[in-house]
Amino acid sequence: MVDLAAEPVLEITGLVKTFGALRATDGVTLDLRPGEIHALIGPNGAGKSTLIHQICGTLRQDGGTIRFAGQDISRTGVAERARLGLGRTFQVSSLAPEFSALRNVMLAVQAKAGSSFRFFKPVMRDRSLLDTAMAMLERVGLAGRADIAAAELSHGERRQLEIAIALALGSKAFLLDEPMAGMGPEGSKRLTGFLDGLRHQAPILLVEHDMDAVFALADRISVLVYGRVIATGTVDEIRRDPAVRTAYLGDHA
Ligand SMILES: Nc1ncnc2c1ncn2[C@@H]1O[C@H](COP(=O)(O)OP(=O)(O)OP(=O)(O)O)[C@@H](O)[C@H]1O
Ligand SMILES: [Mg+2]
Repeated sequence: MVDLAAEPVLEITGLVKTFGALRATDGVTLDLRPGEIHALIGPNGAGKSTLIHQICGTLRQDGGTIRFAGQDISRTGVAERARLGLGRTFQVSSLAPEFSALRNVMLAVQAKAGSSFRFFKPVMRDRSLLDTAMAMLERVGLAGRADIAAAELSHGERRQLEIAIALALGSKAFLLDEPMAGMGPEGSKRLTGFLDGLRHQAPILLVEHDMDAVFALADRISVLVYGRVIATGTVDEIRRDPAVRTAYLGDHA
């Protein structure tokens, strides 16, 4: 159970974003608590991705505030938000496809540590770098795939590797925009199991259309329709909510 009395890791208040006449984000207020998976669902074009972009800073809001890890980041740049520990939504391009899973993580560990690792050593022979990277792979369940090139990993494994890299870079919360997209039922099931454990390392704001995954994972669900949160609640509360059933869930409920 999520402790709703705990200080939120991420707190969004009255966020507004307009594109011309369209209010893509229309006064959104929501938060993410320690250990929580908070799912954000809603029809196509509801403004889910637009919201994620504003949180990571790739889009600037027109109004409202965003607080993360105890500070106001409403005007903070993308790189600084990432440095503060806001794990970006999946970016497959962040992987070096020809490098092994281990090497990919080592590069991230090295980037994070900067000069505290001795660069004159061949990277693959630096023991502490190797151990730290291996520990990250273990945390995401990829230790057995350390030597496999990123390009050879399955879709789901690549996502796990991206998470390992984000953890190595010091992510304190994850913003995941449709991580199950393009996966078969087996892959979705495996990624669901993985995300289930990940919440204890860093809470997750999860945008997802796969309702099996959402219902299995979410501590709370917020439903976004035309840029507005029409309901926030537990899985049961959301499934029972007549307005949500009309606007989005239909047969899923
Ligand atoms: N850069 C932009 N310029 C103009 N309109 C935009 C821009 N980005 C998004 N929109 C519009 O804002 C609305 C919200 O789009 P958004 O991509 O956030 O929806 P979504 O909830 O992520 O949908 P989906 O479930 O299909 O991914 C849509 O009407 C979209 O056309
Ligand atoms: Mg989207």
